[in-house]
Amino acid sequence: MASSPSPITTCGSLSLHPVTFGRRMHQAAYDALGLPWLYVPFACESVGLKAALEGMRALSIRGFGVSMPFKIEILPLLDELAPLARTIGAVNTVVNDGGRLCGHNTDAEGAVQALEEEVGSLRDARVLVIGAGGAARAVAFGVHAAGAKLLLCNRTRDKAEALAAELKGAEVVAYEEALRKPPADIIVQATSAGMAGAASLPFDEAAFSERNVVMDIVYKPLHTELIQRAKAAGAKTIHGGRMLLFQAARQFELYTGKTAPLGVMDEVIREAAAG
Ligand code: ATR
Repeated sequence: MASSPSPITTCGSLSLHPVTFGRRMHQAAYDALGLPWLYVPFACESVGLKAALEGMRALSIRGFGVSMPFKIEILPLLDELAPLARTIGAVNTVVNDGGRLCGHNTDAEGAVQALEEEVGSLRDARVLVIGAGGAARAVAFGVHAAGAKLLLCNRTRDKAEALAAELKGAEVVAYEEALRKPPADIIVQATSAGMAGAASLPFDEAAFSERNVVMDIVYKPLHTELIQRAKAAGAKTIHGGRMLLFQAARQFELYTGKTAPLGVMDEVIREAAAG
């Protein structure tokens, strides 16, 4: 006897270790909209990634987030890539449309939205991105795709050079000099420095003024030492919770086709950052 389809739609995340924070944020959003949806963190080893994707298809899981190392390992296993995910070469979100898996990069979109919320369109704006790891890469590609003039620097200069070589018109600037006197009014701190327990980047005392907009991608704590210092100097600041919120909201919208309840999701971020 054929069983009737389950009324519950499932989404989730695929990572080496199950993460609960994203679950709380997405589940709170489903619940706020009264959707009979469930968000499940799935743990998986790299060796099982292909089988896990088959399982996702077989179980009609609507979508899932992925973290490192799967952001890159998953690329050849997907059926389709959204243009930005293809250009970046990294996927953090997969949408399952009737068994067809399409990869997106909402990290890049979230970074741009967080910046544009504060400064308006990034087209032709000069933006300094500090860092050249996976997170900085998503920010740099997003900012570049939004039409900004991109300046890059990194503690290890070679990595900034390699990233800049992939981004037409991007310029590499000296790291020490950028921390002394940032060469752009809009500055994005996209390294892991300043995360709970880790020292902040050694910016000069006089690095910031009222002219600056300073975004930190670190979200634990929300109000990093950098954010506090920039604010004290009169700069506008964007803490890492905004990028996190907008990237998750975009995931929600890709999965459900509905506008994300930003306030509800933001509340979860604040609680988690405080805890
Ligand atoms: P993520 O995925 O968080 O970006 P990653 O790929 O390991 O992590 O990259 C970490 C980034 O933070 C790099 O740009 C790293 O600089 P290096 O390439 O010189 O290692 C940067 N980073 C981490 N800690 C730092 C610190 N204390 N000072 C300056 N840069 C730091």
